Amino acid sequence: MRDNTERYGQVSRFLHWGMALLILWQFLSAIAHTLIKDTPLESFLWGTHKPMGLLLLVLVVIRALWALSNLANRPAAINKLAKLGHLGIYLLLLIIPSLALLRQYGSGKPFEPFGVPLFAGFEGEEINWMTAPANLLHSWLGWLLLLTIIGHIAFVIHHRRRADKTDVLPRMWG
Ligand code: HEM
Ligand code: HEM
Repeated sequence: MRDNTERYGQVSRFLHWGMALLILWQFLSAIAHTLIKDTPLESFLWGTHKPMGLLLLVLVVIRALWALSNLANRPAAINKLAKLGHLGIYLLLLIIPSLALLRQYGSGKPFEPFGVPLFAGFEGEEINWMTAPANLLHSWLGWLLLLTIIGHIAFVIHHRRRADKTDVLPRMWG
């Protein structure tokens, strides 16, 4: 179940691969929203963006707590860049949906992810200081996260192919 210094355990692996699939879905919805607006596929995918984003926020909090509780007992990062990259992914996965939720609340519109009435909404003007940060940063940080993830995958492949590098894939897969 738990991690050890050689490999990630079942819980970390389940969170890593489960979230990877959900994040892929999240970016499909974002890409559709940018490239094929007002098509049936886009309305279907975009309809899942907010609840899926909230689910990812809940999962990343659980994942971060699990990572912290295993900190002394998981495979050591192979270099400083890997350590920084993993930390960056955690931070972006916390900040991106948090800013969006703050904007959602500040917009005064009701929000019922998965049918759960989270924000009731309110009458009157939107609250500027709550909506401005996400208006400015949400999508840019989202695309930055996508780039970081592409870099992450490229590094794993690079380290697997080169004989003089440590193959890290078995730590997380197989
Ligand atoms: C990890 C979670 C999330 C990621 C990676 C993510 C990513 C993105 C990306 C890349 C875009 C740009 C799409 C475009 O330009 O058309 C976007 C837009 C948007 N997202 Fe998210 N999102 C997440 C969570 C959320 C949540 C939780 C909400 C709302 C509660 C939300 C609401 C929106 C809205 C309203 C837009 C369109 C306006 C804008 O570009 O800021 N997102 N998201
Ligand atoms: C949305 C996609 C992904 C995200 C957000 C992500 C994120 C992360 C993070 C944060 C870690 C650090 C360990 C942890 O706390 O879980 C990690 C480790 C790892 N990931 Fe990913 N990952 C993604 C996709 C992938 C893919 C597609 C591969 C395979 C090519 C992969 C292979 C690995 C490996 C091998 C490790 C262990 C690296 C090491 O210990 O040095 N990841 N990933």
